[in-house]
Parts: sequence; C-alpha cells; structure tokens
Amino acid sequence: MPSLNENYQNLEESYLFAEIARRVNVYEQSHPGKKIIRLGIGDVTKPLTKKAIEALHEAVDMQASPDTFRGYGPEKGYDFLRKAISGYYKRNGADVDPDTIFISDGAKSDTGNITDLFAKDNAVLVPDPVYPVYVDTNIMDGRKILYMDGTAENNFLPMPDENVKADMIYLCSPNNPTGACYNKEQLKVWVDYARKNQAVILFDSAYEAFVSDPELPRSIYEVEGAKECAIEFASLSKTAGFTGTRCSYTVVPKELVFTASNGKKMSLNEMWNRRHSTKFNGTPFIVQYAAAAVFTEEGMAECRENIAYYMENAKMIADVLRKKGIPFTGGVNSPYIWFECPKGMESWEFFDYLLENAQVVGTPGAGFGRNGKHYFRLTSFGQHESTAEAMERFDRLF
Ligand SMILES: Cc1ncc(COP(=O)(O)O)c(C=O)c1O
Repeated sequence: MPSLNENYQNLEESYLFAEIARRVNVYEQSHPGKKIIRLGIGDVTKPLTKKAIEALHEAVDMQASPDTFRGYGPEKGYDFLRKAISGYYKRNGADVDPDTIFISDGAKSDTGNITDLFAKDNAVLVPDPVYPVYVDTNIMDGRKILYMDGTAENNFLPMPDENVKADMIYLCSPNNPTGACYNKEQLKVWVDYARKNQAVILFDSAYEAFVSDPELPRSIYEVEGAKECAIEFASLSKTAGFTGTRCSYTVVPKELVFTASNGKKMSLNEMWNRRHSTKFNGTPFIVQYAAAAVFTEEGMAECRENIAYYMENAKMIADVLRKKGIPFTGGVNSPYIWFECPKGMESWEFFDYLLENAQVVGTPGAGFGRNGKHYFRLTSFGQHESTAEAMERFDRLF
C-alpha cells in the first residue's frame, strides 16, 4: 500500500464556485422564469480576437503540410514567442531577456508548480484575501503559511513587517479578488525586504494588461533590484481571452541564485528549466503561434479594445457603488470590484440577499480568505447589457 501525501487532509473543501452553483440552482428551481445575471465568474466572455484566430487557422494549415509541420517543440517555448514577449516587456518599461522566459499552459499551473523548487521547511507569506491557489498548493506540500492581512486600512495592499521572516512571498497585483494594485514605491519596499531577508517573491501579474495608469507597474521588473529576488507569472488568459486556449509565461531571472545546504550555488532559472523540461512537453505549437500574433501591434490593439469594453462594465459597477456610498476597491486598473457588503452583512448572507432580491450573482469574499468575510466581488467580464441591467437592479435595491 502506498503511504499517501496526508497534507491533502489539511486542505479546506474547495467549495466556493460549487456552492455558488448549488445556491443558484436551488433558486432557479423555485423561481422559474426569473432572469439571473451572473457577475461572479472570473472568465472572459469575448471570443478570441481576429489576429489570434487568423494565426490559429494559419498554424493549423502549417500542421497539415510536411514542410511546415511541427512536432515536439522546445519545452520552454518557441524563440519567436519568447522574443515577442521580451519585446512586449520592453514596450512596457521592463528589460526581460527572452532566455529567462518560459512558455507554459497557464499561470495556475506555474504558480502551483513553482513550489517544486523549494524545500518543505520554507515559511510562506501569503496575502489574505487572495487567489486560493497559492495557499492550497503550499498546504499540499506541508509548508507553513503566514498570512498578511489585506484590509481597508492598508487599501488591501499589505506591506512587509520587519518582524516576520518569510522565505517565499506571494504577491498578486492587480489583485484577485480586491482589484488593488501596488505602485512602484510599494513594490520597491517589497523588493528591498526580500533582498534583505534572502527571500523570493512570487509575483503574479495575470491582470497586468488591465493597468491603464502609466505610473503603475505592470511588471515587478520595472522595479530596481527585482531580478535578484522575483519570479513573475503572466498569462494570456485575461489579456487576450485565452482562458480556453491556454498560454502563459513565467520569468525566472538568472540572477536568482541561492546557496544550498552543502554550500553549492543553485540557480532557480536552471532548476525551473530542468523541472519544466522534465515534467512538461511544451505548449501546443498552434497556441504559441496565436500567442505571438497577440503581441503584434495589431494584436495588442485588438486586446486593448476588448479590455476597454470590460473596463466600461467596471465603470458601470463602480458608478453605482459610489452613488450608494458603498466603499470599494478595483474597477480601475483591474477587472474586479471588491466592496464591503451593505448593511453589515456577511458575504454569503449578502450573496443570498442579492440573488433573492435582484437575481444578481457575485462571489462572496469569504471564498478568498478570512478578510473577505464582509466583502463581495463583482467582475467586469460580462456583456454591457447584462451588467447595466444588474446594476440597475442593484441601484433599486439599496
Ligand atoms: C491571480 C490569478 N492568477 C492566475 C490565474 C490563472 O490564470 P491561467 O488561466 O493562466 O491559468 C488566475 C485566474 O483566474 C488568477 O486570478
């Protein structure tokens, strides 16, 4: 009999979206004919852009001919895509060597798999509330997790506490679920803290494309010294609607070298290269080909148009919350809007209240950590018409 990874017993039931679906289902059964509007899901609704679709078709045709057919590709991704991503970084103000970019099939996989590089006895610092994958993947490995509170007092942007010694630090900016975004000065404080403590920052920038304020960083590498302490995860999921097509990239700078217990120097870039090429056989060629089309001028313009569409939804949501005097974060530089549940309600209580009285579905903050207990997340990924209708109903409710 195999002995099992019993750390799995320590995972909390991942019931957030299942429980939402169950409650919506019960409501639908007992209220047939009521039109429910969903502003809870973090998935995009717009299809792939013209450039990406053209590239996909072209790549499929290439796979049909012996002269252009591609079989196994380089595990870390094709040069053409890694160079295109490096160019994208450059245009956004960060210098990232293509050789340090690893193409993958999702920021979810990579933010989870990166734990393979670190021993089990590391102390892990995680913001609360946050994207639950960081916590669950470290619980699976049995690591000790320290939480840092994201609250209204710190604008949901926790900063380092000199009394806390962490080895691995997860930061997510713009943040899911709060929509809060660190500025360069704040990230510099994190970079200085990490370097002083010889810690590594695992920086999730899955929503960087939603940052419209030119003063705000879209990459941690816009901050001096970040290459000495940070790994960055980014994704085409929300940038270009690749949630179903699957393509992401992770940057592991060569400067990230730490001393092992036997005194040997170990490079995280080399370790990740070894891990990636041992356990992963590459993102499909046709997907990488389409991803490269996304990073062209025309491709980027199309993505910006879609993002602008979503951000109009965010504005509709934010306008109503502002009018009602409900405190919120996000809605600019982020597709998420995070607000305090009205009338002192807890998040699941508010979920039921909103469903019952306005037939609008959102995401209870409690699903993202204990600091979300009195908060609620709405997303801007819906259609204009349904978002407008949902917010009209919301407006009438309070
Ligand atoms: C913060 C954050 N990181 C990563 C992901 C996953 O992205 P991907 O689709 O690239 O796996 C998500 C998806 O919702 C997310 O919210």
